[in-house]
Amino acid sequence: MDLLLKGGNLCDPRASWEGPAEILVRKGRVEAVSPSIGPVDVPIIELHGKTVLPGLVDMHVHLREPGGEAAETIASGCAAAAAGGFTAVACMPNTSPALDDREAVACVRQRADSAGLARVYPIGALTRGLGGKEMSAMWNLAQEGVKGFSDDGMPVIDGGLMLRAMQFALLLGLPVISHCEDLSISSGGVVHAGTCGYRQGLPVIPSVSEAVMVARELLLQKHTGARLHLAHVSTRESVALLRWAAGEGINVTAEVTPHPLFLTEEAVEGFNTDAKMNPPLRSPSDREALLEALRGGLITVVATDHAPHSLPDKEKDFLSAPFGVVGLETALPLLWTMLVERGLLSRAELVNCLSANPAAVLGVPGGTLAPGAPADLVVVDSGKEFTVDRENFYSRGKNTPFQGWRLRGLPVLTMVGGDIKMWKGRVKGFSSHFPETDALITGRELF
Ligand code: DOR
Ligand code: ZN
Repeated sequence: MDLLLKGGNLCDPRASWEGPAEILVRKGRVEAVSPSIGPVDVPIIELHGKTVLPGLVDMHVHLREPGGEAAETIASGCAAAAAGGFTAVACMPNTSPALDDREAVACVRQRADSAGLARVYPIGALTRGLGGKEMSAMWNLAQEGVKGFSDDGMPVIDGGLMLRAMQFALLLGLPVISHCEDLSISSGGVVHAGTCGYRQGLPVIPSVSEAVMVARELLLQKHTGARLHLAHVSTRESVALLRWAAGEGINVTAEVTPHPLFLTEEAVEGFNTDAKMNPPLRSPSDREALLEALRGGLITVVATDHAPHSLPDKEKDFLSAPFGVVGLETALPLLWTMLVERGLLSRAELVNCLSANPAAVLGVPGGTLAPGAPADLVVVDSGKEFTVDRENFYSRGKNTPFQGWRLRGLPVLTMVGGDIKMWKGRVKGFSSHFPETDALITGRELF
């Protein structure tokens, strides 16, 4: 519905806006942004100085449907997105069956539409069945509207196959998103090859298993000219390679997930499967290198790699439990509390890495609230402190290593296409008593 957001403090670097703003929303789009819009004929939401950001865009999530509904469904994943301030997510194709044909992709889109909570952009499988043996029907997948290709969860071992996939993706104008890991080095490993892993006697995943694959992908990019995006970069060696690539003019973007920015290998101490992920949490010097790369612009995207798993799966012993942690409902408060409040990242840089830059990599709308843009936004109560509690997650996955953390930067309203999807932690269609938008606004104080 049409409405006016009043009294907000907008940060929209793409529109060079930082400060008080009124935002007029009509027909799902931003019609005007101004310090003062004057009398209007639409309902008004008074934000009392809260922060307004363009809706967050997560270019790396696992929604698990089809096939993994015990861990997540498209609807529950989208509810988690809305709760976390994300208005759009790109979902990885390692479902069962994989997103390697038009029907599978169409089905995801249909279910996302009926959930109606966040924009969902499927990523197509790079190889058939994620088997790493032959290229998927990339042209068909592109016709179905995938926003990139990836075998995420697995590397593409065959360099020649990756080379041809890059050439084809270039023709299709879509990015290749690479999970960089040399399985001949890492296979069987479950933790970083560092002090903690060795002390616990666990099989390890050395940093070099990522770095050699990063190097290969960068060289293949140079050879093909394809658009390359590196998923979940985790080591200082990868950062050094990105620095080299920047000097070479290699067309690459890279993402870091929140967990390696705030945790190290020590988090797996006590065989904590909620901190088991691939790539694994690494050493303090890796953590510092990732943070520097994010602050310095070598890494331009923060993506969550939201990887929900069922409780029975995560309760298995450390060797058998699956890799992955959830991220959608903690990413913004983590970055807000740990980076923005500490002066390590500006609000504008936060918006760029969590919204504008991933939108640009995917080639989708978003990342700005300039007039004409979709009215996708998040309102943040920057001062309110809360405790992370997995029991409150909308995600079916409760596997977070941040349980009990005290954070600020809580999203309190998420709007997609002018429609309120989350208000004060309640998600439309999920929470009982989620009021209709007009009832929310008419004659009531929202905040
Ligand atoms: O931790 C991870 N979880 N890393 C991956 O590469 C895959 C993901 C998953 O699908 O659970
Ligand atoms: Zn992933």
